[in-house]
Amino acid sequence: MLFFQLLFFTVSVSAAFLYSERDIESAEADLMNITTDLANIDTELSFFTPGNINAAINIDDQFEAVSTFTRNASLWNSQTPQLCVSQNGAATPDDADGFINMAEGGYIPVILDVLNKTVAAREAFAATNGFVPVILKDLIAYNVSNSLYLANLTLGAPPEFKPLALNIIRNITMAFNKAIAAYSD
Ligand SMILES: *[C@@H]1O[C@H](CO)[C@@H](O)[C@H](O)[C@H]1NC(C)=O
Ligand SMILES: *[C@@H]1O[C@H](CO)[C@@H](O)[C@H](O)[C@H]1NC(C)=O
Ligand SMILES: *[C@@H]1O[C@H](CO)[C@@H](O)[C@H](O)[C@H]1NC(C)=O
Ligand SMILES: *[C@@H]1O[C@H](CO)[C@@H](O)[C@H](O)[C@H]1NC(C)=O
Ligand SMILES: *[C@@H]1O[C@H](CO)[C@@H](O)[C@H](O)[C@H]1NC(C)=O
Ligand SMILES: *[C@@H]1O[C@H](CO)[C@@H](O)[C@H](O)[C@H]1NC(C)=O
Repeated sequence: MLFFQLLFFTVSVSAAFLYSERDIESAEADLMNITTDLANIDTELSFFTPGNINAAINIDDQFEAVSTFTRNASLWNSQTPQLCVSQNGAATPDDADGFINMAEGGYIPVILDVLNKTVAAREAFAATNGFVPVILKDLIAYNVSNSLYLANLTLGAPPEFKPLALNIIRNITMAFNKAIAAYSD
């Protein structure tokens, strides 16, 4: 947690100093919020044991919360400029580079790990009041909101960053597809 907070602090201070004309800070704040929420789910999954109904309910709630927050973060307008875009157009290359570095340092490995751990926990959820359909519903909903979020971030990326962004999206979508498949049979 401390690591994420320090990272956020460093990036937002330098971004505010160097690129104060852009509205990337709220997008970074949303990314940090999502990353912290995912890190909490990751920890819950690490300790999840078959039959722990309270932990299963908590994980279900947390998936719903991160999914709702992520869907909100995919929206932007003049009141809540939440993405790497502004009225001036796409993010600068420096801003996009900083944002992607931030994602690679937290969000991307954590979301992939959460999806891996969710696959691994399938039998434990099955043995907890038949929780598999509940987690399946969470995964499907989160895949939708996360796809909207990543697609909107990509819209705000300058052209030279779009191939990398699409690569990241492909990897994350593959991980969602794998997790959803594991809960679908
Ligand atoms: C992220 O935002 C949601 C909704 O505003 C909030 O409930 C949650 O506590 C936030 N998480 C962090 C780590 O700030
Ligand atoms: C999502 O946005 C709606 C409408 O602005 C708001 O009521 C809700 O609290 C937000 N939820 C989260 C988790 O950010
Ligand atoms: C997820 O699992 C796959 C294989 O099951 C592995 O290749 C990949 O490195 C894992 N990812 C993470 C983030 O642990
Ligand atoms: C951006 O997010 C909004 C709100 O979730 C969604 O309606 C829109 O389709 C998204 N854009 C893309 C390109 O997915
Ligand atoms: C996508 O996943 C592959 C295989 O794990 C990896 O080599 C590659 O670096 C990933 N791409 C990105 C942009 O993260
Ligand atoms: C996850 O979302 C992506 C992007 O919208 C979509 O192509 C894919 O089919 C979804 N996966 C599942 C299993 O629903």
